[in-house]
Order: sequence, then structure tokens, then C-alpha cells
Amino acid sequence: MHLSGRRILLVIAGGIAAYKSLDLIRRLREKGATVRCVLTRGGAQFVTPLAVAALSEERVYDDLFSLTDDNGMSHIRLSREADLLVVAPATADLMAKMAAGLADDLASTVLLASDKPILLAPSMNLLMWSHPATQANLATLKARGALQVGPGTGDLACGEVGDGRMADVADIVAAIERFFGLPGPLSGRKALVTSGPTHEPIDPVRFIANRSSGKQGHAIAQALQRLGAEVTLVSGPVTLPDPPGVTVVRVETAAQMLEATLSALPVELAVCAAAVADWRVAAPAVEKRKKVEGVPPPSLVLEANPDILATLAAAGERRPRLVVGFAAETERLIDHARAKLTRKGCDLIVANDVSPASGTFGGDANTVHLVTPDQVRSWPLMSKTAVAEQLALFLAERLGAESP
Ligand code: PMT
Repeated sequence: MHLSGRRILLVIAGGIAAYKSLDLIRRLREKGATVRCVLTRGGAQFVTPLAVAALSEERVYDDLFSLTDDNGMSHIRLSREADLLVVAPATADLMAKMAAGLADDLASTVLLASDKPILLAPSMNLLMWSHPATQANLATLKARGALQVGPGTGDLACGEVGDGRMADVADIVAAIERFFGLPGPLSGRKALVTSGPTHEPIDPVRFIANRSSGKQGHAIAQALQRLGAEVTLVSGPVTLPDPPGVTVVRVETAAQMLEATLSALPVELAVCAAAVADWRVAAPAVEKRKKVEGVPPPSLVLEANPDILATLAAAGERRPRLVVGFAAETERLIDHARAKLTRKGCDLIVANDVSPASGTFGGDANTVHLVTPDQVRSWPLMSKTAVAEQLALFLAERLGAESP
């Protein structure tokens, strides 16, 4: 409840991301904030005043003239009685109005009549976002002191892919917490996460790889960052966007991943979620290997890759205080996880079933078991984001509250 007593005025403009604002209201209220909402005419096309009122447990303000019947609650009081104005989604249209100083509806009037800080969560099509007019409007608003969170990159409602997606609700909440100067439980701490597969070359055009998408590792990096950690994510080849606020180092092979992780030290926490190839081709060909008619297919001679997790766990003075590994198994999950915990010398193993039926590799959900020398904790099937959020909280608790 660390947002207790904080008063937020949320302006919901007319964009498809308005539906996420309902979750934003819920999350802010869970943390103790009071949330009053202004819904633009466009916003009301995407979410109903009834839903907003039900979640905020406050009257919803959606019409400039309705204010006159509200015991003197003027648009001026509406903004004055807030500690922070949050515009989510901040559409190109509303930002243009704000930059120009227009006040032709309740939202724009409240924003113009305010001397309170404003946090913008832009959301729009990627061409609208990159248009010089939008960028100039944003620059004007930021020069006047507006704060910004997002947008992110990804699938947009219009079917295109690119910049313009409203920041995740958790990121907006984190930005609000930062605004109020609230440190996360991992503030001031450094963390390292490995994610994705590695590609081990056979020749310049072929490689050995696996089915890891990076979804789980990337979500963990993002969750740790949201708790305030300074996160370095060492990622194998994936198609995911970089998690905002995280330093990303891209690598291809296990050898490069090892080098990048050692360069990121010292850190207090290391989470090895990457699916590192155990073996690499001993002598990758310099030129593309040719198929020759009548000659049997070549054999690949493999050699062991370095074990990154074990190396981090045995790094002596540079060993992270908490070293967490994963175990990807298709049978006898807990037995194998326990053996890996001992063999690799880490503090905790997150075991997950990666048999094809589980859909873990590449999927959006995961069932994990936290294995320590004396305990096994099993969590139910959750989204990979939820696994990451719970794991980050669990690790923050393990690291303890003492200052770094
Ligand atoms: O990427 P996604 O599609 O979201 O899928 C997530 C995941 C299944 C890849 C992830 O949850 C996971 O299980 N990651 C670990 C995969 C793996 O390589 O597990 P392993 O049991 O083979 O290895 C055990 C541990 O040693 C892992 O922490 C691994 O990162 C580490 N390791 C393995 C080999 C090696 N050479 N170096 C290592 O550091």
C-alpha cells in the first residue's frame, strides 16, 4: 500500500489501449492510491464510464458541462486535488491539443488548467508516432516538464508492428512510483540475466540451435528492472523487442555469452534462463560445406561449451550473491534439477518441463518449481510474465532489505 494517500487523476483518451487503463486503475488502487478518472468522448468509445466508475469507486468525469452540477467541483479543482495527472493512453490528438493549449473538452481543459505534473503514456499507430508533428508536440510538452513512459515496440492494434504501443501497465505503475520517489525493493542493486538460445555455427550459413524464444528470460529481466534493479540482459538471437530500461547485450554463441556475462560482473544477482547449447562444432567450416553427389553426409564432431552458470557460481570474489539457474527437463524434473543445483553450485534452480506437450519452449505460459537444497516450491501454471514477476519478488526478498 505504498501509494497510500497519493491522488492520481487519470485521463483516458480515445485509443484502443484505453482497455489497459482499467487494469491501471485496479493496480494503482491495490497500492493504495486514489484514482479519479476523466474520460474523453473518444475514450468512452473504448471503455464505458460504468466500468471506470466501478473500478475507481469514484464518479467519472466525462463532460465539461456536467461539472456544474457537482457541488462546485470545477475542472480547476479536479486537477488541483490531484498529486499527479496521468494521461493513458495519450493519443496523438490529445498531445497535439495539449501542445497547442486547446481546451475544447473536459480532458484538454483540465490539462490546461493544471499546474500539476503530468505523466504521458503515448499510444498510437507507428506512423502517427514517428510523424514530425507528434514528435514536435511531445518535445514541446517535455520541455514544459511533462514526463513520459513508453511507448513500447510490438504488435499494434492496427496490425502493424513497431513503436507506438502503450507501455505495459506495470511500467506505468513503476513510472508513477518513481515519480513519487518510491524506491523498488531492488533499487541500487545490479542484476544479470541470460536469455534465449545460442547459435553454434557449423559453417557460415548453418548452425545448431534450440527452440528457446527468450520470452521467459526477457520477462525476468523486465520484472527485475521494474523492482528497481539495474539489469544487464545477455541475450542469444531472439526476435523479441528489448525490454525498456534494461541494458541488452546481444550474442550468438555460448562462448560470446560467457564473455558478455563475465564483463557484466560484479552483480548481486544472476539469473541464467538462457538455453545455452551444451555442445558446439569443434571446427566450424570457414566456407559453406558442399553436398557432393555420391559422398555420404558429413559427421559433426562436437566439443563441450563452457558452462556459464557453473562459471558464475564459481567466480570466487566476483561470484554474485545469488546465482539462479534453470533446469529444462523432459522427465524426472525435480531429480534432475536437484542434481544440477549441486553440480553447478548455484543457490536456486527453477525447474520447468520442456517436453513438447508442455508448450514451454516458445509459449507464453510456464509451470515452474523452485528447487533449493532443502525445499521444492511448486507454482501453478502461469503466464511467463507472472512467473517473472513472482520470481523477481521472491529473489528480492531473498536478497534481503539491507542496502547494497
Ligand atoms: O525462451 P523461452 O521460449 O521462453 O523458454 C524458456 C526456457 C525453457 C528456455 C527457460 O525457462 C529455461 O528452462 N532455460 C534454461 C534452459 C537450459 O538450457 O536448461 P539446462 O537444464 O540445459 O541448463 C541448466 C542451466 O545451466 C540453465 O540455467 C542454463 O542457462 C545453464 N547453462 C547450460 C549450459 C551451458 N553451457 N551453460 C549454462 O549456463
